[in-house]
Amino acid sequence: MTTTIPQNADTTRRELPGYIDEVVEGLSGEAKTLPCKLFYDERGSGLFDQICELDEYYVTRTENALMDQYAGEMAEAIGPECLLIEYGAGSSTKIRSLLDNLKDPAAFVPIDISGEHLVRAADELKVSYPTVEINPVVADFTAAFDVPAPLIKPARNVVYFPGSTIGNFAPKDASRLLKGMAQRVGPGGGLLIGVDLDKDPNVLRAAYNDREGVTAAFNLNLLVRLNREAGADFNLSCFTHRAAYNPEASRIEMRLYSDRPQTARVAGRRFDFEMGESILTEYSHKYTVESFGKIAGEAGFKTRQVWTDADDLFSVQYLELN
Ligand code: TRP
Repeated sequence: MTTTIPQNADTTRRELPGYIDEVVEGLSGEAKTLPCKLFYDERGSGLFDQICELDEYYVTRTENALMDQYAGEMAEAIGPECLLIEYGAGSSTKIRSLLDNLKDPAAFVPIDISGEHLVRAADELKVSYPTVEINPVVADFTAAFDVPAPLIKPARNVVYFPGSTIGNFAPKDASRLLKGMAQRVGPGGGLLIGVDLDKDPNVLRAAYNDREGVTAAFNLNLLVRLNREAGADFNLSCFTHRAAYNPEASRIEMRLYSDRPQTARVAGRRFDFEMGESILTEYSHKYTVESFGKIAGEAGFKTRQVWTDADDLFSVQYLELN
């Protein structure tokens, strides 16, 4: 006679998520950090959607308006029969402005790390654009991935990278990503990219420290998530969100500050915080047309056309690889 031991009888051992090594490494350094990719769980994505609606957060509104107004010119610059590859495809309306205007696109390939989200968005696009071949790819766009060949041979490959997500990468990583895009599109290929512009620090500080505290909730959600998923015990009421502008690096730096000396446990390890010590959670670099042209130029891209709003808050830029 045999006795069956339930597979998961050992309830003291909990399966830790795959990102835990990165979390432990980030909290172990001299200056504590957390990986920004942890922002976008279900709740984080919802909070980010709310950020996009805030009065102070000019970014999304301004970029959407540029896409509405100039998608025709952008499609003209891109030309007919392109293979359009979107990096980090959300459920955005921006792509619709483009697809409404592109001439005979060979295919549209949205790439996103969140498969469920991606497939849902792609299915909706297929309904709206039944004549466009749409091939979603589930992948982390900072790593290697394959783009399926479309049925029609494309005249040109073009990467679309909206949202000024490029600003969330440290300069070295932004360079690496741009070089990867250059390789992806090949000679004659293009890059249509949303780039947030450097501006009055007061406007920037307001955009990332909104009065309603949505950005604070979004930032603190990192700790909420670690408490829930990674067996952490951060005391949520003892950390405060603050975004500061660093003029030397032209970037907003998002941090969570410890209000007092405290200890938090994550995955069985102990991390001590001094009063006022912070965790860096995200950068948002701001560029000028020139400074972005320089970093993209190092990857081989030449700036062809730049669309900006009347207040020069934001730019959408089309660059080409020679
Ligand atoms: N790409 C967005 C930006 O840099 C992301 C963002 C907006 C963000 N608000 C944030 C990231 C707050 C972290 C925290 O504007």
